[in-house]
Amino acid sequence: MSTTADSPAGLLRGAVVGLGMMGRHHARVLQTSGVVTFAGAVDPEGDRHGAVRDPDAVFPTIRTLLEHGRPDLAIVAVPTEDHLAAAVELAEAGVHVLIEKPLAESPERARALVDAIRTAGVHGAVGLVERCNPALIELRRRVQAGQLGQVFHVATERLGPFPARIRDVGVVKDLATHDLDLVGWLGGGVTTLSAQTQHRMNRPHEDLVNVVGRLEGGATFTTMVDWLSPTKVRQTRVLGERGMLVADTLTADLTFYANGEVTSDWDSMRSLRGVSEGDVTRYALSRREPLLAELEGFVALIGGEADPQAVTLEEGLAVVDLAEAVLRSAQSQETVHVLPSRGTRPDAGTGHGSGAAGNAGGNPAPSVPAPAAGGPR
Ligand SMILES: NC(=O)c1ccc[n+]([C@@H]2O[C@H](COP(=O)([O-])OP(=O)(O)OC[C@H]3O[C@@H](n4cnc5c(N)ncnc54)[C@H](O)[C@@H]3O)[C@@H](O)[C@H]2O)c1
Repeated sequence: MSTTADSPAGLLRGAVVGLGMMGRHHARVLQTSGVVTFAGAVDPEGDRHGAVRDPDAVFPTIRTLLEHGRPDLAIVAVPTEDHLAAAVELAEAGVHVLIEKPLAESPERARALVDAIRTAGVHGAVGLVERCNPALIELRRRVQAGQLGQVFHVATERLGPFPARIRDVGVVKDLATHDLDLVGWLGGGVTTLSAQTQHRMNRPHEDLVNVVGRLEGGATFTTMVDWLSPTKVRQTRVLGERGMLVADTLTADLTFYANGEVTSDWDSMRSLRGVSEGDVTRYALSRREPLLAELEGFVALIGGEADPQAVTLEEGLAVVDLAEAVLRSAQSQETVHVLPSRGTRPDAGTGHGSGAAGNAGGNPAPSVPAPAAGGPR
């Protein structure tokens, strides 16, 4: 049986549960990062993508992984509807868990998951990995430093073909959870939203969503996400009084479109366009792998570091609430109002009296405090 005491330099031992499209990348990072030592992988289907160097480190169940030597941390990358069972089993065994987004397929199960992690006294975080994208980190830093002046609008687009393996959730919970998290992270929490969806692939869940809403700071936002487009687009734009920052998270590029200083003589054109085109600057960024940054942030959280780069369970829960609010809005055709905590308000709606939101409680704060640094063993 392996333990942390056996691992080089006392590094934490990290495992991955689920060796699918996402888990295989976590397996690669866990084996190469130097931040942790690799404690093994779990997948009942085995290592279909050839992600694990040592075949003896692949186990069919969490129980067999634990019997081989309990890891300090595990990344849960099983299908979304299986997150709860896997995370609870690991947490109850004393393993810190980084859970892929979305936390769960419903607010109720996401809350049950957070409660179980709190009760077990281990650390938890959520794999909303876009927050570790270098272009978005730099975009946010520049917005917060005031480069754009007042922020008017945040827009995200996440378009592309359907990945046929996803059966348990629709595009809102699978993909738009990234966007619902990002708009709040960049522009302040979501206060209202209104959504439209499309079902074009004859599946039980939606395959396109368009969301429009407002953020706490007064800016508006739009989010367009689909599984219907024949090309992949991953773009986030923040428009402000001095120009626009555009992040392409596929290429990790960040570009600034400044408002022009030189005014045009063509008055009709000026009034149509509002601003003139100015200089365009593409920033040179150091491109660190987001999954590695995410793992480092989780290790820092476990180590008790102040303000680690990790998405908290409460933030993950809030995004599941927002996704639910998006689906309710699309179904009811009403605007949903969201509390500052980003839980949805039970009496929300457009004033038609039907209560488009309906989330009991709304506030995702768990009843049990977070564990101390390092967590109990
Ligand atoms: N952060 C991101 O950008 C991102 C990207 C893709 C997927 N994800 C998330 O990662 C999770 C997995 O998605 P995916 O695309 O890799 O799915 P996938 O279907 O490709 O892989 C899931 C794997 O989990 C395995 N599995 C099922 N039950 C298991 C269990 N009880 N224990 C261990 N393994 C089990 C399956 O055999 C499969 O190999 C989902 O929650 C998804 O939303 C996140």
